[in-house]
Amino acid sequence: MYNYKEIGLVNTKEMFEKAYREGYTVPAFNFISIEQMNGIMDAVIEKKSPVILLASPNLHRQLGHEMLIRVVQAGVDRIKHEGLHIPVALHLDHGMSFEHCVTAIENGFSSVMIDGSALPFEENIALTKKVVEYAHAHDVTVEAELGILSGAEEEGAAGHRESMYTDPVMAEEFIRRSGCDSLAISIGTCHGLVKMPPNPDGTLPELRYDILEHIQREIPGFPIVLHGASNIAPEFVEMINQNGGDIRQTAGVPEDQISRAARMAVCKVNIATDGWICALAHTRRILAENPGAVDSRVFTLKIRPELKKLYLHKIDVMGCEGKA
Ligand code: 13P
Repeated sequence: MYNYKEIGLVNTKEMFEKAYREGYTVPAFNFISIEQMNGIMDAVIEKKSPVILLASPNLHRQLGHEMLIRVVQAGVDRIKHEGLHIPVALHLDHGMSFEHCVTAIENGFSSVMIDGSALPFEENIALTKKVVEYAHAHDVTVEAELGILSGAEEEGAAGHRESMYTDPVMAEEFIRRSGCDSLAISIGTCHGLVKMPPNPDGTLPELRYDILEHIQREIPGFPIVLHGASNIAPEFVEMINQNGGDIRQTAGVPEDQISRAARMAVCKVNIATDGWICALAHTRRILAENPGAVDSRVFTLKIRPELKKLYLHKIDVMGCEGKA
């Protein structure tokens, strides 16, 4: 059992209040390796940006409670040792059951997502409410989801084929009745490598800002979350393909669209795939350049600065430099 406050983590309440008030969004980065954790921490320390570390139930199982929480603790301790005050939350990404959320809360997470988006409306409310009651008793914040994003959250996970946009009036009722602290909505973003199929003229469709504005009018001040917000930079896709990979179809979310959402009610933006493909592209390149390598540090040492560069850029896109 771990208590997030003893680790030096915070929940998302004050982070989101400040982000909403000042018109920026808090970056939420998935991590799956030590290099990624180091790259994220290098960037947030340099930019003095708040951050939400995202760990999925799969990662939680893969690393185990002890390793996961110690990797996070090491990141938080670095901030402390530098004499800085940077709010860091550890958030369960896509908890799919009450049990996932309880396990996370008992093991040091400061915030959880309960993803009931595939359930009928009333069942989603009932499940979210049950998680909220447990989480709030531990001062842990809860993100819920209404509407469906297409694509899988993780490689190997079952994904949805079709998106279903969030209905703003239902969102108001959902938030009021479930008691959740933030809501992930569907306005055109999507998990994975292919976000929005391009228009016939080759341009990318805009996110549905009209839905976001409507939700903002229905529930003023309430923090909204965007999943599936990676940009899928062609430079990483090319590097992967030039070095033995085979990724053909990609279409990311243009970053100016994320910046615009960040100035509205969106207070948390999730980025996973951009981190995966950055690390993978450079790993493939370095291995191709060093065919005789026998020690994985030949690439682990070099991908950390590349990841730092990526996360520094994301912090600029989200407008949260100096917001710690
Ligand atoms: P991307 O696949 O666009 O990075 O989205 C990640 C995400 O939303 C994780 O919950």
